[in-house]
Amino acid sequence: MPTKHNPFTPDKLAPPKLFAGRKQEIADIDDCLRETKDGNPHHFLIEGEAGIGKSSLLARQAGVAMGEVGTQDGERLDFVVVSLALHDQDSYVSLIRKIAGELKKQLSRRQAMKTLVLQTLQFLSRFEVQGLRYNHEISKDDESQLLEHLQSDFVSVLSGKRNDFDGIALLFDEADKPPPEARLGLVCKLLTEEMSRKRCDYLCLGLAGLPGILEQLKAGHAAVPRLFERLELKPLLHDECIGVIRKGLAEVYEEHGLEVAITEDAAAEIARLSEGYPYFLQVFAHAAYREDTDRLIDGDDVSRSLSRKNGPYQKLGAKFFEHVYLADNAPDYRGVLFAMADHPRSWMERGAIIAASRLKESTVDNALRAFKERGTILQHEKRRGLYRLPTQAFAVWIKGKWTNG
Ligand SMILES: Nc1ncnc2c1ncn2[C@@H]1O[C@H](COP(=O)(O)OP(=O)(O)OP(=O)(O)O)[C@@H](O)[C@H]1O
Ligand SMILES: [Mg+2]
Repeated sequence: MPTKHNPFTPDKLAPPKLFAGRKQEIADIDDCLRETKDGNPHHFLIEGEAGIGKSSLLARQAGVAMGEVGTQDGERLDFVVVSLALHDQDSYVSLIRKIAGELKKQLSRRQAMKTLVLQTLQFLSRFEVQGLRYNHEISKDDESQLLEHLQSDFVSVLSGKRNDFDGIALLFDEADKPPPEARLGLVCKLLTEEMSRKRCDYLCLGLAGLPGILEQLKAGHAAVPRLFERLELKPLLHDECIGVIRKGLAEVYEEHGLEVAITEDAAAEIARLSEGYPYFLQVFAHAAYREDTDRLIDGDDVSRSLSRKNGPYQKLGAKFFEHVYLADNAPDYRGVLFAMADHPRSWMERGAIIAASRLKESTVDNALRAFKERGTILQHEKRRGLYRLPTQAFAVWIKGKWTNG
């Protein structure tokens, strides 16, 4: 019988007890919030590869802003937290509507605010009462009015806040998703500028998105990236990975009284396989825990879990890489990716790929062309003979899959 109550959950945000690392980023976001509380707002942008832990960090810090968790200095903050996950169908109108709707929801949770400002919110009176359908075409006039109303709602809330709360934290996860027409960057800029003009500067913006989000925001408005302090998430350190595994097992003991141990070798192997990618770590740890039957996870459990049908490499491939990946049926093509995976951070010359893969020139050329067309690899814009893999996580997966999987 496999051991029950698997504490490793790749598809859920990191629960506070399993959260590891990110000390610098936490300190930086704590600072942004504290400065905002003092009327000197700072905004932050969390950037990183898929599965690196952006949403988990943002959610953790939403808890700090709300005061559920203390800052690193032990302070309890008290922000109204407006937290949204955006998506690719968001438009300018739906974006503003979501912000206004969530602001209203969060304010109505606070008894004191209910009577104080809720009735004065313009957005409600103008757009909700008239029954305006937000998602249909609206005129330019209406569009700019929509933002003005939102701005004036933020001003009424923040200028009437006295000491009731510290400010508003407006957090957008998946901020790379909305199309340029949604003008996310511009909305952020105009909101913060208005708070400053009206001298109620207690709004902290926090965004999270994939690499490239800064350029995306810049395309909307050149000044937008300067608004944000940029926090680039890197893989976790080896010891932090081991910490996550140990904390997971401690959690099972605390919650269910079930004692499951892991050998040092097995923990180190899981950390090594994941190369610090938190999502990978959860997938490998989940699989090894599931494989175990005697409540001691050892090296055999880890290696057996890798070769299972629908094991960790298949799961990772399906989530991140399957759509760009065609080498399973073409072993030669696989050699090209394998060679490139040794240099995940730098551009590689065609000649170097041929040498490293030990394949025929024509085979490498065909593979490069096929991979390029599918977006599996990137080609340098100016120097066409240079190629690289799009992410480092992809390199980790390629090497692991064909070595261990
Ligand atoms: N600091 C951390 N400590 C422990 N586990 C973490 C940490 N950060 C993330 N994880 C785990 O890694 C997985 C992916 O995390 P998360 O969803 O936050 O990443 P993401 O960058 O938002 O991914 P995506 O790009 O898919 O939105 C989750 O299982 C989460 O529990
Ligand atoms: Mg996320």
